Amino acid sequence: MRAYIITASDSGCAGTREDLSGPAARELLEQAGYTVAGYALLPDERGALADKMREICDSDAADLILTTGGTGFSPRDCTPEATRDVVERMAPGIPEAMRYHSLQITPRAMLSRAAAGIRKGTLIVNLPGSPKAVRECLEYILPALEHGLQILRETTGECAR
Ligand code: MTE
Repeated sequence: MRAYIITASDSGCAGTREDLSGPAARELLEQAGYTVAGYALLPDERGALADKMREICDSDAADLILTTGGTGFSPRDCTPEATRDVVERMAPGIPEAMRYHSLQITPRAMLSRAAAGIRKGTLIVNLPGSPKAVRECLEYILPALEHGLQILRETTGECAR
């Protein structure tokens, strides 16, 4: 499976803060056997984030897009809105599961507005922006994601539609 990582971070883009969330996602993805097809560091701009997601989905450049950052309450946080702009079908169980798991670690997990959904053959999942949170969420969802992606990408067989 091919995964693309998009980090939404104004400070990362401006070079005032090193992005550690993208590398954390990459490490876990590679450990799980994914090929990382690309990485983009973008500002917290709804249009730019949506354009990038659309481009990856429509060119079938990845089976999975993981975004990091921009899911909180800061006025600039808009990753879930950009995700909703591009997906054709929502997959609410994935962020619900992340929040369920994360709430056992920190009550602040309730502040995550993360979304997930499907455009064509690509699943998009929003992760929080701290590398610690990325690890906590990804470790929990990756085993189930694999099954979902297999069903999404299947063109023949029992689960095909
Ligand atoms: N989830 C986990 N597993 N661990 C965390 O430390 N931090 C929370 C939440 N989810 C956290 C977490 C916090 S403090 C915020 S503000 C939201 O994610 C949104 O993070 P973001 O704005 O960096 O995307």
